[in-house]
Amino acid sequence: MCGIFGCILKDEAAAPWIHQALKRLEYRGYDSVGEATIYEGRLYIKKDSGKIDEVHKIHNLDSLPGNIGIGHTRWATHGAPLEVNAHPHLDCEGQIAVVHNGIIENFTELKIELENKGHLFKSRTDTEVIAHLIEETLKKNPSFGIADAVLESVRKLEGSYAIAVISPRESNKIVCARHESPLVLGLGENAVYCASDIPAFLPLTNKAVIVEDGELVNLSLEGFEIKKISDSSIVKREPKIIDWTPEMAIKQGYKHFMLKEIHEQPKCLRNTLRLQEHYLDLMATFLDRAREVFLVACGTSYHACLAASYMFSKLAFLATYPVIASEFIEQHGKSVNIDSTILAVSQSGETADTLAAVHAARQRAATVLGLTNVIGSTLTRVSRVYIGQQSGPEIGVAATKTFTSQLSVLAQLALRLAKKRGKVSQDEMDFMEDKLKEMPDIVETVITNQEEKVKLIAKKYKDAEVFFFLGRGISTATAYEGRLKLMEIAYVPAIAFPAGESKHGPISLVQQGFPVIFICPKDETHRTVIGNIMEMKARGGTIIAIIEEGDEEIKKLADEYVEVPKGVPDILSPIPFVIPLQLLAYYMAVERGYNPDMPRNLAKSVTVK
Ligand code: F6R
Repeated sequence: MCGIFGCILKDEAAAPWIHQALKRLEYRGYDSVGEATIYEGRLYIKKDSGKIDEVHKIHNLDSLPGNIGIGHTRWATHGAPLEVNAHPHLDCEGQIAVVHNGIIENFTELKIELENKGHLFKSRTDTEVIAHLIEETLKKNPSFGIADAVLESVRKLEGSYAIAVISPRESNKIVCARHESPLVLGLGENAVYCASDIPAFLPLTNKAVIVEDGELVNLSLEGFEIKKISDSSIVKREPKIIDWTPEMAIKQGYKHFMLKEIHEQPKCLRNTLRLQEHYLDLMATFLDRAREVFLVACGTSYHACLAASYMFSKLAFLATYPVIASEFIEQHGKSVNIDSTILAVSQSGETADTLAAVHAARQRAATVLGLTNVIGSTLTRVSRVYIGQQSGPEIGVAATKTFTSQLSVLAQLALRLAKKRGKVSQDEMDFMEDKLKEMPDIVETVITNQEEKVKLIAKKYKDAEVFFFLGRGISTATAYEGRLKLMEIAYVPAIAFPAGESKHGPISLVQQGFPVIFICPKDETHRTVIGNIMEMKARGGTIIAIIEEGDEEIKKLADEYVEVPKGVPDILSPIPFVIPLQLLAYYMAVERGYNPDMPRNLAKSVTVK
């Protein structure tokens, strides 16, 4: 996730406005920043890695001349957060400047094609291909205006994008376009804006036009023209008046960041399906060669590792050892060696316990692989190979979207490895890949259809003193994650166990009305889970079941149930089955009067200007 902004002002310099707008978009990304303006037929650019304030201190972003410009605040997906990879990106002649939010999936192919035509690339980003594509289109079609060239170029892009383009060839306009990344226009007095998000221009105007997927906009002080990218037809759209406060706008109308991030999951999962195959392949090769593989992480990331151990075992027949990072050194520090591989999973890439485990493993010559959300983090620097999970910045303290994204990446990795090892047939592979592609829609369905139901459950059980979470097989990881969320933000004591283990002690806690949450996908564990439900019911437990749609058997046994669409394979089931648990934790916190974004002892600070 990155933030883009552009503006054209009648009487004022654009740069200070771009700078302030980028500050308001900083929650979308903050590892690099850049601005480009046009003045007297020339492009002027300032960009660097670092937070906006740091970059401004060194480069004085406000000093760029001209009344038209674009800006970008970056959350790296392709290419480390370095000055050369910061946006805007330019074509060879320095005549076209582009800012971009999204992921261009076919950028490697396009880059090779353009390089063969003589284009010289400076960065390692996917974005730079857009500038060169526009340049190439203009070269081939000298009669084209910038908008025509952008239109033609974006038709060649696969993936997601919201872009803003300026060029001194037509210094009075910004051309922008979107596909699966957000883009809005702001219409002010003597000024027009385009941005990733309304907060960027909300203090300046509340008159906005939402650009839809597959649309291109020609923006100037005279107004805006929207065209469909597919057939160039003109789209008519009236501006809307936005009555949000800046605080509401930054949360896109959601009451809390946690809820916003829960709702962002379909989009994040779509992004995880755009990973560069090359890195997945490379990582699968390392895993294939390892004598032993440890999956090392803390908290929610550890739960992703636990789920991944089932994926690797079931799909690729590879035994892996999930280890809580703070235990790694004591447990395995002396035995890891050159033949060991550590796959460290950390959203932030900076968690001290995870890094300590990685450090210890490296000292004994083990291979370190990383999965993280923050490119440029310590984990990316110390890993032999790393993958960026593409979830965008996590502002809510409780990990939600980052967990499901990690699961999706780890499932893709397990599939790659299975293929490499010849452990799955092509049919199975195709089936699993199709199912993975369905995950964003399935998660969307769970949120749309079940949120109100979960809200009611939270209301009903808000005063429960303790919860029990049970699952079998891979659903054990889902149960652990549900428990962590509930404890972390609603401060409800909770316990979680593999359901089969509950009778070896924990069951003695159960008495009349004790809420027991069962995770019940219709997989090989279903029969035994029913047996565990009966055991709990016999002791007076109140059963709350997360079930597959139409699971009549469990519906009859449960006091409450929440449904997930049918047909999700067991190894992917934690992705949709955790959603009701995230929502439950959120609504329990709200019901109990707590702010889910500020769990005590853990809160990150969020500033909204
Ligand atoms: C739970 C949560 C924490 C983190 C843990 C690891 O909601 O946010 O448990 O999962 O601190 O953090 P990362 O993944 O950044 O290493």
